[in-house]
Amino acid sequence: MSTLFEVSNLRKNFGALAVTNDVSIRMAPGDRLALIGPNGAGKTTFVNLVTGHIKPDAGRVTLNGEDVTGLRPAARVQRGLIRSFQVTRLFPDMTPEEHVALAILQRDGKAGGMAGHYSAKSSVMAEVREILSLLGLIELSHLKVREIAYGQQRLLEIALAMALKPKVLLLDEPAAGVPQLETARIERALDQLPKDLAILMIDHDMDLVFRFATRVVVLAAGTVIFDGSPQAVTKDQRVREAYLGSYANAGSAA
Ligand SMILES: Nc1ncnc2c1ncn2[C@@H]1O[C@H](COP(=O)(O)OP(=O)(O)O)[C@@H](O)[C@H]1O
Ligand SMILES: [Mg+2]
Repeated sequence: MSTLFEVSNLRKNFGALAVTNDVSIRMAPGDRLALIGPNGAGKTTFVNLVTGHIKPDAGRVTLNGEDVTGLRPAARVQRGLIRSFQVTRLFPDMTPEEHVALAILQRDGKAGGMAGHYSAKSSVMAEVREILSLLGLIELSHLKVREIAYGQQRLLEIALAMALKPKVLLLDEPAAGVPQLETARIERALDQLPKDLAILMIDHDMDLVFRFATRVVVLAAGTVIFDGSPQAVTKDQRVREAYLGSYANAGSAA
């Protein structure tokens, strides 16, 4: 397998708490990896570490063979390491079209001068339409964000990530807070994403995880306790104890 993205021996302590405890993960183009684990396991911290939003105490992150551990978040984004956030960050009075157009302009370093005139730029608009279609949002292009369903807002966030031309896409709970009926829509949209894109998705919806992922990594108390197939994960005793048991017992996880 050709390695696109590699995290080696990543460590982070918050005070005495080892939130990321020697975590190593490798991804190849086209991987569909689910990162699961109980609340507080360190999943979001892992994403923050690899994107450069927080600084690791030790370890290395490489993208396409390049060590990006010391780079700022924006420099990693330029290289195709893109994340979405667990909490929504959209502007309620802007349309999906405006959001995606601005993301494209920002990516190309043109947000300042041209933002008011983006609809005149046919190449930008063609790309906006392509991305909104990909995520199943084209019919909603001109509505305000506050007028569209929450599940579709989450899809718009994935659209914004796609506008940045990811090679590795990190999705932090894309279905969090989305009503069950709408998660099918998210699943369909994820299915449409380019096959060579490497995607790491954090989620608590085990049905979604098992349908999406070809590989599952389980994090518990900052440590990787499992890295393998979705078929094997449910049979793993440590995983059952650390996660699936508590998941089943709790009924659902926040
Ligand atoms: N900035 C921070 N300072 C101190 N502790 C933190 C900080 N961010 C997260 N934590 C703690 O680190 C642990 C892992 O959190 P997080 O990565 O958000 O877990 P998850 O996303 O798996 O639910 C939790 O115990 C959380 O309270
Ligand atoms: Mg989290």
